[in-house]
Amino acid sequence: MALTLNKLLLFSCLISSTVLTAKSELLTSKREKLTRFHVYAQDKNTGTNATVVNVAQASTTNQSATSFGLVGVVDDELTVGPEMSSKNLGRLQGMVTFASQSEVAVLMSINFVFTEGKYNGSSLTVVGRNELFLKVREMPIVGGTGLFRLARGYVHTSTYSADPKTGVLVLLYDFFVYHY
Ligand SMILES: *[C@@H]1O[C@H](CO)[C@@H](O)[C@H](O)[C@H]1NC(C)=O
Ligand SMILES: *[C@@H]1O[C@H](CO)[C@@H](O)[C@H](O)[C@H]1NC(C)=O
Ligand SMILES: *[C@@H]1O[C@H](CO)[C@@H](O)[C@H](O)[C@H]1NC(C)=O
Repeated sequence: MALTLNKLLLFSCLISSTVLTAKSELLTSKREKLTRFHVYAQDKNTGTNATVVNVAQASTTNQSATSFGLVGVVDDELTVGPEMSSKNLGRLQGMVTFASQSEVAVLMSINFVFTEGKYNGSSLTVVGRNELFLKVREMPIVGGTGLFRLARGYVHTSTYSADPKTGVLVLLYDFFVYHY
């Protein structure tokens, strides 16, 4: 009987130390870290090969100075540098809703989908208010996948260049993202 009890105790000690080791390995290997990086988005809002299309609007949108009620879908190329010819990193895809009657401000619900470089296969999701005429706009990073699992943080965006002739806008997205 005593032997059995000893064995049992030993066994349970072994189990709990294994569980503890596994737990601490998980904690030390999964420390939250801050990553800062930036990408450029190539956005074309008119003409052939437009990367932003309007999909719906209210009957009153045409009379609104702020395009209130307009909904668009975007699929921009992401590049390392501001030039269109610079290395491709993935796409910015999602929905843009003109949601203010007093400012030109949109609700953006967008995914940054990385298909090249060190974030290949990962994505970040940004949902927030983008007041287009402000120099720097801030939006929350609400999640991510792959390397960006459990991501949170914020992104600053600003217009790097705008060409009214071609409708091409180059946007800078500067990420401050906590992830594991
Ligand atoms: C549109 O895209 C096609 C295919 O990539 C390209 O050949 C064409 O030059 C583009 N047109 C414009 C106006 O950018
Ligand atoms: C609003 O304007 C656009 C472009 O000028 C036009 O195609 C559309 O029919 C107009 N919509 C309404 C509801 O007036
Ligand atoms: C990105 O990842 C995909 C899927 O894992 C892979 O097929 C592709 O070759 C990778 N691309 C680069 C440039 O590493």
